Amino acid sequence: MIDDIRRIQADAVSRLGAAATLEDLGVLERELLGKTSELTGFKKLMGGLDNEAKREVGGALNAAREAMTAAATARRADLEILASRHRAEAERLDLSEVRAGRDAGHLHLVTQTIEELEDVFVGMGFNVAEGPEVEDDWHNFTALNFGEYHPARDMQDTFFVGLGGPREVVMRTHTSPVQIRVMEHQAPPIYSVMPGRVYRNEATDATHLAVFHQIECLVVDRGITFGHLAGTIDRFTKAYFGPGWTSRLRPSYFPFTEPSAEFDIQRPDGTWLELGGCGMVHPNVLSNCGIDPEEFSGFAFGFGLDRLAATRHGVTDLRELASTDIRFLEQF
Ligand code: DAH
Repeated sequence: MIDDIRRIQADAVSRLGAAATLEDLGVLERELLGKTSELTGFKKLMGGLDNEAKREVGGALNAAREAMTAAATARRADLEILASRHRAEAERLDLSEVRAGRDAGHLHLVTQTIEELEDVFVGMGFNVAEGPEVEDDWHNFTALNFGEYHPARDMQDTFFVGLGGPREVVMRTHTSPVQIRVMEHQAPPIYSVMPGRVYRNEATDATHLAVFHQIECLVVDRGITFGHLAGTIDRFTKAYFGPGWTSRLRPSYFPFTEPSAEFDIQRPDGTWLELGGCGMVHPNVLSNCGIDPEEFSGFAFGFGLDRLAATRHGVTDLRELASTDIRFLEQF
């Protein structure tokens, strides 16, 4: 009898462990442990045994029941995990972007340029910030230390938007207002780059666009010097263009930097390309953003992206960058 019970136990444990589904497991449990099971049948036979045998058979029956219950519990846990995995798989939504192959289109040349530049700056430890294209006078001009009668506020250069008071809302004329937004929202240390679209009320020709793109770089921290500015520009030049390229700074003027400079980069063949403006963040600009200029100093630079992208790819008319002609766009 004991041998029979052990055989039944071993057989049952292996069948329970192999149940393929939760339903199968339930059916098996009823068959192997229920009222009409072989195990329960043995219990009924115990009546005719002497006390000694009763104890032995009873012990074996209990052990068998325990082993089978444990096997069923373990299998149920496994099957529940599997079932929830199946459910998750069945409910899965593919939210990944469609990866556009060559045939399905690709990013615009200027977008590619922005992403490449971001990669270079992120690799140098900067983060990326953005601001609105419709700006108020404070961020686009006043906070950047533009005097009330600064020529850049002239109707010639700025597109005004018919919102608010007269000349209060503008299409941003540069990405420098994003510097203000970053400083207003974040305490130093600040190491940010800010790419984006800008607008100038200008006649469009082969070398000028009314809607174009810039990238801005801002660092504010303790002990930042002009040396950090020159070093960062040179490091960036080599990282983006290549090790054979160098940079130089020429004295210039911007209301929001003091001292200010323009920077050029030199191609390996020795020719120069004017790239953008830079300088040490003017103390007034730091104060306008609630940053103490006695405690912190900073540098900034900014340059246009469209001319850069065009030069790199041999596009001779900037207006092509706004073209929707697929034969032009396909080339990049
Ligand atoms: N915002 C200037 C422009 O559009 C470029 C510029 C000059 C940006 C000096 C800067 C800077 O960050 O420091 O002409």
